[in-house]
Parts: sequence; C-alpha cells; structure tokens
Amino acid sequence: MKVRKAVIPAAGLGTRVLPATKAMPKEMLPIVDKPAIQYIVEEAVRAGIEEILIITGRNKAIMEDHFDHAYELEAKLTGKPGKEKALEACLGIADLADIFFVRQKETLGLGHAISKARPFTADEPFVVLYGDDVIMGEDPVAGQLIRAYEEFGKAAVGIKEVSAEDIQKYSSMKVEHLRDNCYNITDMIEKPAPGQEFSMFSILGRCLLTPDIYEILEHTAPGAGGEIQLTDAMAELARKNGMTGVDFTGIRYDMGSKLGVMKAQVETALKHEEIGAAFQAYLKELAKTL
Ligand code: UTP
Repeated sequence: MKVRKAVIPAAGLGTRVLPATKAMPKEMLPIVDKPAIQYIVEEAVRAGIEEILIITGRNKAIMEDHFDHAYELEAKLTGKPGKEKALEACLGIADLADIFFVRQKETLGLGHAISKARPFTADEPFVVLYGDDVIMGEDPVAGQLIRAYEEFGKAAVGIKEVSAEDIQKYSSMKVEHLRDNCYNITDMIEKPAPGQEFSMFSILGRCLLTPDIYEILEHTAPGAGGEIQLTDAMAELARKNGMTGVDFTGIRYDMGSKLGVMKAQVETALKHEEIGAAFQAYLKELAKTL
C-alpha cells in the first residue's frame, strides 16, 4: 500500500530546554529563520507525503497558526517593494500540505501520543517524524524509510550508531545485516542500562509503522520513565514480524537539547544563502578570541 500519511508527535513538554519552552513549544524553536517543525513538515512533503497529523498539547496552538494564513501580515507585505520573498515564504507555508491536528491531553509518553493517530491513519502504513528531531539532507529520511517498506514489506526505523553515553538515553537495536545500509531488526530495548545493549544502533527520530502497532499499544504498559514507550511496542512488533532498520543519510539535530539547538543554528546559518558568508566571517573573528 502506498505510504501517503505522516504523524508528527509534538506534545512533549520539552523539559530539557526550559525556560525557553515554558510557554513556547520546542518544535517552534527557530533554526535561523524557520521553526524546527517546518523543516520536518518540508521533509515529509519532499518524501511524497500528502496528509500530516500533528499531535499537539496545551500551549501548542501557535503551531496551528504557523501553518495557516496570516491575513493581516500577508496584506501588509503584498505589493511592498523588497518584501516579495518574505511574502512568498509566508504564503508557501500555508500551502505546504494538508495538515490536521489532534491533542494529546496528558503527556503519557510517545507511545500514547501515537495511539491518538489511529482514526487518522486507520488501516494505512504511516511515517512518524519526531517533532524535535530535525534531519537535514538531500534525501529525506521519510523517503528512505518508504523505499525500505516498499522493498522489504515491513515496518521500518531510521537508525544510526551512537556513543556508549548516548545509547543509554535512546534505544538499542538487535540487528542482522541485510544489504548496504539495511538491517533486519528482531528486538530492541528503550534506554538500556550498561550491559543491556544489543548493539550501538539506536532509533533517531523517524519510523514507518504498520497499523498493527495500535493493537500492541493498547496493552503496552508504562516503561522507562513511567511513560508508554513507542520503543516497547515496536520491540513487540520486531519480535513478531521483524522490522527493517535503515542506517540513514542526513545530519540529525536534537532540538530537545540545548547543544542540539545550537548545532542546528550554527551549521544552518553557515549554509544560509542570505547570511552564510557574513556569519562565517563573524565566526572566524570570534574564534580568534577563544
Ligand atoms: P521526548 O521524550 O524527546 O520529548 O519525545 P519530551 O517529553 O518533550 O522530552 P523532555 O521533557 O525534553 O525530556 C520525543 C517526541 O515525542 C513527543 C515530543 O514532543 C517529541 O517530539 N512526545 C513525547 C509527545 O508527543 N507526547 C509525549 O507524551 C511525549
């Protein structure tokens, strides 16, 4: 079945980037001139996704406004010399894709958030793009997972090898090599304690799920951190049917961490067509003083 739908969970409280996220969603933190979630929606669209569900919570309504028209602003910019590009950028956002919103009323975990997507995805496979993981690259990771699903016929996850320190914060995959950058995943564990790791491969920000995940989520008990973990449900799916792991291409920025936000800002600014050259000159001068 063609993959047409994507789900972006964006209801988390963002406690690692407080106080910036006290009243503003971490998904709206800017990377130079666009909020993180816009990069993620653009990735989904580039991968051929037609409909997107964003899972939001309280204090997150600003995301709905961002993907809507802003009539007063558009009227002010229309016909103003020098403002053509800004107007085009604003108009383009409202037409990016068909975007739907649903609220997760309690932040009970990523697994719980995904269960809210059931009426939207129904019996179709769907891509999940974590709302605080921006991945930059020529080939959208969502598209890399869709190709893996079309080839191997199984749910898929975007994986990368991480450090011993990071694996304990993320998840660890039991893998068998299939070909090139593709692996068969037969089990996984969320936030492994030292010694519990299957491998150093961890899921980073993207997966493609089949509808059978919902029945598993119905009986998934709270796991690490007392939250209903998507990884625990995917582990059951992997043990039952196997899943495909794709060691994806692209640079991933964790917008839920202070260092991740700064890396995304600096690296994107250096490549930015408007400010790239000036920012590089500034950084070079600054580096002399360090
Ligand atoms: P995280 O665990 O990174 O988000 O979830 P968090 O809960 O905001 O983390 P802290 O507080 O900074 O440690 C990964 C993704 O899942 C979403 C988050 O918004 C993020 O995009 N999420 C998490 C939900 O939608 N609902 C939840 O209950 C938990």
